[in-house]
Amino acid sequence: MLIKLLIPSIVAGAVLAGPAAIAADKTVDVSKLPPPADKKGVTYAADVKPIFEKTCFKCHGPEKQKAKLRLDSLEAALKGSENGKVIEPGNSAKSVMVHNIGRIGDEDDWMPPVDKGDPLSKDQVALIRAWIDQGAK
Ligand code: HEC
Repeated sequence: MLIKLLIPSIVAGAVLAGPAAIAADKTVDVSKLPPPADKKGVTYAADVKPIFEKTCFKCHGPEKQKAKLRLDSLEAALKGSENGKVIEPGNSAKSVMVHNIGRIGDEDDWMPPVDKGDPLSKDQVALIRAWIDQGAK
């Protein structure tokens, strides 16, 4: 477990230091994401909404809809943003939202934005991955 925690920081350090960062745009290294949680029967209502409520609603909820994205209902989350879908049910590794919350890819796209809130924990990202992989129910 300790190794799992250490490797991403070493890799992140190497990327920041090296020229690899320039190539960023669409090339995201999904191997840096925490693996999906083992939990079965993960749902929006029971597992994911409380995470979004705490960390995302203030910008993607009833009051503000940054990028025209709302996360305060399952339907809205599946509908996506002004740019299209942010979740690919069945494929968390391909879901833009997972790249954003897992903080891989372009730093401008990390969610919540850098300095605008604490990043989600690895366990929270793992749970959201499991939810998407299980069909985003
Ligand atoms: C402080 C405000 C703020 C918070 C909190 C926040 N976001 Fe965002 N979010 C934004 C802004 C602003 C954008 C648009 C960024 C851009 O267009 O470059 C955005 C864009 C996004 C996008 C991409 C939409 C697209 O079309 O590319 C996703 C997905 C997203 N947010 C998910 C989340 C999730 C999940 C959380 C909670 C873990 C979260 N955001 C928390 C402000 C926020």
